[in-house]
Amino acid sequence: MSTNINILGIESSCDDTSASIIQNGFLLSNVVASQSVHESYGGVVPELASRAHQQNIIPVVHEALKRAGIQKEELTAVAFTRGPGLLGSLMVGTSFAKGFAQALNIPIIDVNHLQAHVMAHFIKEKDVENVQPEFPFLCLLVSGGNSQIIKVEAYNKMTVIGQTIDDAVGEAFDKCAKVMGLPYPGGPVVDKLAKLGNPKAFTFNKPHIEGYDYSFSGLKTSFLYTLRDEIKKDPDFVEKHKEDLCASLQATVIDILMTKLKRVANDLNIKQVAVAGGVSANSGLRQAFYDYAEKYGWKVFIPKFSYTTDNAAMVAITGYYKYQDKDFCELSAPPFARISANISGD
Ligand code: KG4
Repeated sequence: MSTNINILGIESSCDDTSASIIQNGFLLSNVVASQSVHESYGGVVPELASRAHQQNIIPVVHEALKRAGIQKEELTAVAFTRGPGLLGSLMVGTSFAKGFAQALNIPIIDVNHLQAHVMAHFIKEKDVENVQPEFPFLCLLVSGGNSQIIKVEAYNKMTVIGQTIDDAVGEAFDKCAKVMGLPYPGGPVVDKLAKLGNPKAFTFNKPHIEGYDYSFSGLKTSFLYTLRDEIKKDPDFVEKHKEDLCASLQATVIDILMTKLKRVANDLNIKQVAVAGGVSANSGLRQAFYDYAEKYGWKVFIPKFSYTTDNAAMVAITGYYKYQDKDFCELSAPPFARISANISGD
């Protein structure tokens, strides 16, 4: 019998169906099927997402095993995203994981999607230098559904220090992009156009929230009102100022994120700071991390692009560490749609 620990990870919380194999902590494969069906709707349509997951899940798992060069009988355990996310989407991955594991008579491991985003920093690749954060560190988790500052004390000990009280940062990018008539998802498009614009061209409202929490709904409204007022004067305003609008929006978002993150880092006296989630692909945010590293002596950790958006490698690596603790879950464990306070437990 193989002495390798082979974990199959399954991710299906939103609109990406993904499967990955991690062997003894090292990545063997990471297959992601993204769903283009949502583009014409300007956002993810939950029912369409569930249906696409159903179509994708078996081919994606098959491909992940093939690329890893292992047989399904060699798997040690199946880790799956249990939540938070879209319930219908989660049910596809969860049901598949349970059925597959039961057929192979191996344990299942439930994974919190947010914990998995943080754990992306611990995915090791063969034949490269794997630089990983040391505990404790802070992780700024920014995606389409979440904006959080997390204190990470161990693989299985993560505490949310602050989070958005309304919109997530990715949502703010996507909604502002939508009012400019840009395609979905808007975040990457804003990023691209921002490179050509002046970040000081426009000023938008910044939130005044006590403590470590974020808020992005005021910025979104301020952006909308600016456009509304300017379009009254010139109907071609957006077209003429797209780049400057994107650059100013992005600069404001980054300033909001980094100012609070710095406050937490100072207060907790932690100088190792990581970023995770889909919005961590943003080039301006990445640059801000490098600038803060230089200015404030932070050691920063920025994941590879392929590990920033939803992927199963982060689920498999979380499963790998939970496997060490024999932290398995019952077959009866249902998926959960909402966020839980303790993201390293359920
Ligand atoms: O983590 P993710 O793939 O999905 C979840 O929300 O779970 O994040 C997707 C979000 C979207 O809102 C997308 O617009 C945003 O990440 N995003 C970006 C960039 N790339 C993706 N936002 C700003 N700049 C980017 N380069």
